[in-house]
Amino acid sequence: MAKTKSAYFCQSCGYESAKWLGKCPSCNSWNTFVEEVIEKPGASVPAWQTSGSTKRSNKPNKITNIAFSEENKLSTNDLELDRVLGGGLVAGSVVLIGGEPGIGKSTLMLQLALNITGKKVLYVSGEESEQQIKMRAERITSNPTADCYILTETSTQNIFKQIEVLEPDIIVVDSIQTLHSAHIDSTPGSVSQVRECTAELLRFAKETDTPVFLIGHITKDGAIAGPKILEHMVDTVLQFEGDRHHVYRILRSIKNRFGAAAELGIYAMHSGGLRQVSNPSEILLSQRDEELSGIAIAATLEGARPMLIETQALVSTAAYGTPQRSATGFDTRRMNMLLAVLEKRCGFRLSTRDVFLNIAGGIKVEDPAIDLAILAAIISSHEDIFISSKICFAAEVGLSGEIRAVNRIEQRIAEADKLGFERIFVSNYNLKGLITDKYKLEITGVNKIEDVFSLLFG
Ligand code: TYD
Ligand code: MG
Repeated sequence: MAKTKSAYFCQSCGYESAKWLGKCPSCNSWNTFVEEVIEKPGASVPAWQTSGSTKRSNKPNKITNIAFSEENKLSTNDLELDRVLGGGLVAGSVVLIGGEPGIGKSTLMLQLALNITGKKVLYVSGEESEQQIKMRAERITSNPTADCYILTETSTQNIFKQIEVLEPDIIVVDSIQTLHSAHIDSTPGSVSQVRECTAELLRFAKETDTPVFLIGHITKDGAIAGPKILEHMVDTVLQFEGDRHHVYRILRSIKNRFGAAAELGIYAMHSGGLRQVSNPSEILLSQRDEELSGIAIAATLEGARPMLIETQALVSTAAYGTPQRSATGFDTRRMNMLLAVLEKRCGFRLSTRDVFLNIAGGIKVEDPAIDLAILAAIISSHEDIFISSKICFAAEVGLSGEIRAVNRIEQRIAEADKLGFERIFVSNYNLKGLITDKYKLEITGVNKIEDVFSLLFG
């Protein structure tokens, strides 16, 4: 009798071991090993499962002889998604979309299935019933003319059977953690199941040139649940993020074999589904007439996309012995560093003050060019002097208070100019070789953080 083969897997990182271990040698977490059956005796082998496919044998091909054209990318009829995918959907690609529960992953994918033109889409759901999906579709679109099929199924073997009959052009799987393959005996969502199901779908995608979207759950610390290897296997990893209490959602590409990573798409969640946001700056800036202190605007760049974002700071007397420092949408450690720069280089006494920081719109910014705006907002609140809403900032601040250059300054300046700003503060180093007279706004180059404050607050 054939023996059942099993192995132990770390449920946190996917490390495989022949015997049980208390501590994972790969990710150092304790008590995460679970035995999983990796091969069932006598399991039949389906078309997508044959390892080392015998269908075609590949020969080396000279790179200059390989035909490729940009037109191979299929538009999804969603400009934001196209942008994040690097210009469109590539045949045979596998795209993994991760995000918190309730953020809108299923909505985004169903919307894609309903909006794409001239393609047959199969939406496989292991999470919702046909009626639930229909209800959602009713909310999203009123004309259900799309060539979209719903399959509520979790066994990959059955899914492939249906695919052979239906022959869809695009497949959406919601979610990879609900699938299970008959070749593996462990429960859906376990490391070996997730890995096996992804591998089967991957093989299917590559052999039939069908694009596949996988929705993935994330763990409580934000990583995509399942083995890290999942992210290595797929072609593109997108993350859908945002604050559930805000309407804005950001689709970010973390990995993309077919385009620039760190691209960004912005959506707003409405009662009728997700709506694309093509001019983010205009909404991320609050329309204010009053002169409020503690607000400064940063000309940031997310991916290739310039965005003007409002940063807000509140500096108040600490109510307790230890002052509070909290930041929303910005790294707290970086904020502490910037506060230390203010103390040391500019002599502001902030050690007895609470400092709260907020990036408007509930979005997260990683671009270091936001530094100067953050410092300006903090000082504006500290001194209670407002900064004109026609001024913006684009520079990184170094540990000695020096103002450092940032990349693609022209793009930032052009966006600020377009939105009617009158002045932008940048690093002096950024001014080299910059043609300044094509912009209406005044470009002020600065060297040190003190210079900015004397120009701003006198
Ligand atoms: P969903 O796509 O189910 O999230 P996920 O698949 O990532 O778990 O999104 C659910 C949320 O979106 C839910 O809180 C309701 C909201 N929503 C709207 O606000 N408008 C809509 O048209 C739809 C379909 C959902
Ligand atoms: Mg869902």
